[in-house]
Amino acid sequence: MSDKKEMTGDVYFPTPEVVQSAHIPDYDKVHDEATADLPGFWGKIAAENFEWYKPWNQVLDDTNAPFYKWFINAKVNIIHNALDRHMRTATRNKAALIFEGEPGDTKVYTYQQLNYEVCKFASVLRAMGVEKGDRVTIYMGRIPELMIAMLASAKIGAMHSVVYGGFSTEALLGRIEDSSSKLLITCDGAWLRGKTVDLKEIADKAVERAGSIQNVIVVKRTNQEVGMVAGRDHWYHDLMALPIASATAATEVMDAEDPLFILYTSGTTGKPKAILHTHGGYMVGTATTLKWVFDLKPEDVWWCAADPGWITGHSYIVYSPLINGATSLMYEGAPTFPYPDRWWQLVEKYGVTILYTAPTAIRGLMRFGESWPNRYDLSSLRLLGSVGEPINPEAWRWYHRVIGRENCPIMDTWWQTETGNFMITPLPSAPLKPGSATRGFPGVQIDVVDEEGQPVGINEEGFLVIKGPWPAMLRTLYKDPDRYVETYWSRYSKQGWYLPGDSAKKDEDGYIWVIGRIDDVIKVSGYRLGTAEIESALVSHPTVAESAVIGIPDELRGNVIHAYCILRSGVEKTEQLKLDLKDHVGEEMGPIAKPTVINLVDSLPKTRSGKIMRRVLRAQTLGQDVGDLSTLAD
Ligand code: WT7
Repeated sequence: MSDKKEMTGDVYFPTPEVVQSAHIPDYDKVHDEATADLPGFWGKIAAENFEWYKPWNQVLDDTNAPFYKWFINAKVNIIHNALDRHMRTATRNKAALIFEGEPGDTKVYTYQQLNYEVCKFASVLRAMGVEKGDRVTIYMGRIPELMIAMLASAKIGAMHSVVYGGFSTEALLGRIEDSSSKLLITCDGAWLRGKTVDLKEIADKAVERAGSIQNVIVVKRTNQEVGMVAGRDHWYHDLMALPIASATAATEVMDAEDPLFILYTSGTTGKPKAILHTHGGYMVGTATTLKWVFDLKPEDVWWCAADPGWITGHSYIVYSPLINGATSLMYEGAPTFPYPDRWWQLVEKYGVTILYTAPTAIRGLMRFGESWPNRYDLSSLRLLGSVGEPINPEAWRWYHRVIGRENCPIMDTWWQTETGNFMITPLPSAPLKPGSATRGFPGVQIDVVDEEGQPVGINEEGFLVIKGPWPAMLRTLYKDPDRYVETYWSRYSKQGWYLPGDSAKKDEDGYIWVIGRIDDVIKVSGYRLGTAEIESALVSHPTVAESAVIGIPDELRGNVIHAYCILRSGVEKTEQLKLDLKDHVGEEMGPIAKPTVINLVDSLPKTRSGKIMRRVLRAQTLGQDVGDLSTLAD
């Protein structure tokens, strides 16, 4: 398999140095071991690398599948492993987080300092009546206090529900209501390309309409004027200066299966799904995947350039780097502000050794040409990563040649909010093919199958499936277990396989090539959006009677949104209205959900049962054959 002559296609082999220094130099050996005894494999990792208040009496309980349980009856708190235990070792004095703000301000937190802030804020939350099991909604920009708020919630056993700061009122409101959070933590504003986004103002509109929120904590970031409602709103810095902000705060003892957080993500229909992750399995899975895939060493400076508001940030900015005692960089702003060299400047300034980002960012930076990165010393980099959507080979090669100077392997990691951690990914010792995420992480059984579950032929398109459970898997959809079973486990219920909702191919070497979503999820710049949410934003405009939204391939952003709208009777179709509708979606949902094209139409293709046939719209828009129309109503 690792013999050069035997592999097909464009293959990049790792250097002997990379293989030698890797935590896992021999993938096949470890994968075989894990496959032979999955609970034994994870049980050994869990026992050797983490501290538990009380050990498990069974690693995996699959008697109530697909409601799998891991580390049965063990007691733990992810914060004990991310912070508390480091206070006893030299890691205490190491930089946990290096923060660079968009305006250029910087701040470094050692593990001791970060723990101090987390303890104080945990005490504040407790004093405000937040209890184990409560939901706390967090809506902030990319700043250290976002991380502190998440860690403090976890420490006291509350579940955080982070809403990405790029979302707007409607999206925030729906997520607050669904989780019935009593507390919201937000900022006055967030920096974006030299301007400010009025987070507090957006939050206020949501809070006024959401019945559940009793208190709002506001972090001062941009110093802009904001209205504070007496009795409800409190400044973070005021609370942290009170005696209630005690630095002595006990870490709540949790069951391994107790919820750690919920994170909303878009699905096929209706409202977003609340993905639920737990303390034990998520901790073991995220920390181990980061260590093995990015070959984390004590001297590394790890930069995951995602936003903590998405799963990539939860797993690989907030939790797993801290559990591994690593040093992370967090940058607040846009890659191209004030100039397209900002990222490369940061790599040089902080000596970043591992950079993990999305294909859309690479394509965006590639457009500005090589002269921007070439002005900087990027020789500290030793590994690169990609996530969020398939990476096109051209972007892969640019990333490899220009940023990685041809000696940094690229870890193309396929995973989802639901999976919690990397699932299809190379290890640094793997031969790479640009555009393929390669094979399953050790112990993860991946296949590409047809409707019946039969493997499809080599290089034929089929449904991606994951055969069997893994520790960091979602446990359920919060308050909606039936939808959990229906969405992920019903198509292959006989076999007990998980359906991610992606199509893929498998090549001669067993390498997986993910193609894209098979449902009504659209990936725009790597962000996951549901057609249903955008459509409901459109029909909330007084002129729109009905709408359908589709994703159309785009060179830079992967996909862009095209919307079709039927107007209410008597409303005139004008160019101005199209602009108004785009802005309306931006205001309701957030700028990332803005349609690029709005078509004002008189009818939409539907099945006889009234379901919109987005496939037909897509084919028409792309000028392709519309295929089988036998179920079309009209
Ligand atoms: C969907 C999940 C998990 C982190 C970010 C996204 C797509 C993700 C890759 C990749 C091809 C990818 C899939 C998946 N996706 N990574 N390396 N190659 N496609 O999490 O927002 O839950 O989206 O992103 O379509 O199902 P998410």
